[in-house]
Amino acid sequence: MADTTRKIKTIGILTGGGDCPGLNAVIRAVVKTAHLYDYSVIGIRNGWKGIVEGEVEPLTEFSVTGILPKGGTILGTSRTNPLKSQEQTQQMLSNLKRFGIDAVVAVGGDDTLSVATRLHQMNIPVVGIPKTIDNDLSGTDYTFGFDTAVSIVTDAIDRLHTTAESHHRIMVLEVMGRHAGWIATIAGIAGGADQILIPEVPFDIDDVCEGLKKRRERGKKFSIVVIAEGAKPTDMNTFVTASSKVDEFGHEQLGGIGHLLGRAIEERVGSETRVTVLGHVQRGGSPTAHDRVLATRYGVKAVQQIHEGNYGVMVALHGDKIVPIPLSDAITQKKVDPELYEMARIFY
Ligand code: F6P
Repeated sequence: MADTTRKIKTIGILTGGGDCPGLNAVIRAVVKTAHLYDYSVIGIRNGWKGIVEGEVEPLTEFSVTGILPKGGTILGTSRTNPLKSQEQTQQMLSNLKRFGIDAVVAVGGDDTLSVATRLHQMNIPVVGIPKTIDNDLSGTDYTFGFDTAVSIVTDAIDRLHTTAESHHRIMVLEVMGRHAGWIATIAGIAGGADQILIPEVPFDIDDVCEGLKKRRERGKKFSIVVIAEGAKPTDMNTFVTASSKVDEFGHEQLGGIGHLLGRAIEERVGSETRVTVLGHVQRGGSPTAHDRVLATRYGVKAVQQIHEGNYGVMVALHGDKIVPIPLSDAITQKKVDPELYEMARIFY
């Protein structure tokens, strides 16, 4: 139900969680659309941390000039959870008042948007925009940042092919994807991977090795295995982590499954094996045209929701339309479609 009783003068915008290409395109779109409606815009620095600590800056047309093709976020980001303590929550609420922020545009993944959902429940006007290279947010067909990450990974697979072929090696490529293997699956299909391993489907190391041996017996002298960082062998029920630290939302830093698999392959298959961990390269650099346009459409639609008094929503891509959906429907995880994953297996 639209709430047209509130008089909105100032919109606050923040980018939270892991950065991704397209964030600046959203910020630009929000600022330019807001100005059309005569709203002023305040940039909240470093995600929710900025509003807790009172770090904000006015965003003008000048601040967003030239940022459309730039990766990262001019506002900075963090994985701060302002709901972790009552004191921080209170500080956030009083700073929203202090800076005259009447409505918040929260650009983020499930963690950032779960905080936005709580703000909505506290009667703060808020609109969410789905961002993550992982594409694992339900409620939207695609998050922005994903297409760019897929392009980077596909390029990496192409490059690994030429060196793998020259040396007759098996190449293991570890990519991002904590709970969902969208990047591994889509880039794996695009790059012609010979095995794709994702968090949704635990894998048997013996089966993977058997598959690679059979491929070699068919005369294929090299193979490319793409594995998501969150993938697990059937006999392990914890993630392979790079550090024991957890962030404020309780997430571990993943990394290492590629090396574990690479060692097992070399031992059991007997082919020389090398491992590449692509890491944050996947999140860096300029967004693709697709992500620039998607991010821009999300930014425009978010401000339109505020203008219409439609709060507590996330703007989502449904087919080729951008539509508002309740924030609460957006924050569950979207797993790789099993049909798509099965289709990828036709090729190996
Ligand atoms: O959420 C996006 C993501 O890139 C995940 O795929 C990955 O596990 C995580 O962020 C890495 O986070 P950080 O930048 O904190 O290392």
